[in-house]
Amino acid sequence: MKTIVISGTSKGIGKELALYYIANNYQVVGLARSKASIEHSNYFHLVCDIAIESEIVSAIKQIKKIYKTIDVLINNAALANMNHMLTTPYDSLKKVTEVNFFGTYILSREVAKQMIKQKRGRIINFTSISAALHLETQSVYAATKAAIESLTKTSAKELGPFNITVNAIGPTPMDMGLIKGIPDQWLENVVNMQTIKRHGKLKDITHTLDFLISDDADFITGQVIYLGGIS
Ligand SMILES: NC(=O)c1ccc[n+]([C@@H]2O[C@H](COP(=O)([O-])OP(=O)(O)OC[C@H]3O[C@@H](n4cnc5c(N)ncnc54)[C@H](OP(=O)(O)O)[C@@H]3O)[C@@H](O)[C@H]2O)c1
Repeated sequence: MKTIVISGTSKGIGKELALYYIANNYQVVGLARSKASIEHSNYFHLVCDIAIESEIVSAIKQIKKIYKTIDVLINNAALANMNHMLTTPYDSLKKVTEVNFFGTYILSREVAKQMIKQKRGRIINFTSISAALHLETQSVYAATKAAIESLTKTSAKELGPFNITVNAIGPTPMDMGLIKGIPDQWLENVVNMQTIKRHGKLKDITHTLDFLISDDADFITGQVIYLGGIS
């Protein structure tokens, strides 16, 4: 059974992905600050704040001890932030960057050390169409996602020789997760910028992830795949 590590499995897309991969016969290890919200024999939850390096290092150490290999890492956890750049407090800038970018970076680094030993692995990072569209009021969030895209491309080159691929998926607004609380009109404007004008569905994400983590996708790395026809 393959082991897949997913960050941010307490709710939203991450929780749905954990349930999906459990149903598809993976051993899922989920990370979040909250306690487990899934109970299943193929699910192991670790309380871990990915903004804190030592918590990531100890979580990955524990996973390696129990499961020996890590086949897939999905860097899903993130914080959203809607604010004009002029009114964005320093604390929000710091927190969102620490969770979204530092968290993705450090998790990738620690998991990659294990994948290098295995001489195989798949890392998928979550970006957003916000980075491609440079959406107003999302300056911090979009900047962290742009940084994740850059990391995706650089780490793909650095890890390629070890048979590890690194790619990113950029969802459109979904009907779940961190968009709750975002005004409908704002979301409608974003959907109207897409080539295919609808909200994203879970299957749009799982279909893309299944492709990227498949054994046959070993020639595909450093790519950012936006959903909804954004380029
Ligand atoms: N929903 C959308 O429409 C949409 C659109 C485009 C891109 N995305 C991307 O999709 C991914 C998932 O988003 P979502 O909508 O599912 O978000 P969500 O519902 O807000 O869930 C975020 C998850 O991340 C975890 N998390 C947050 N801070 C953390 C920390 N410091 N350490 C560990 N875990 C942390 C949360 O768990 P705890 O709070 O328990 O820690 C939660 O499980 C994100 O990367 C997001 O940028 C979403």
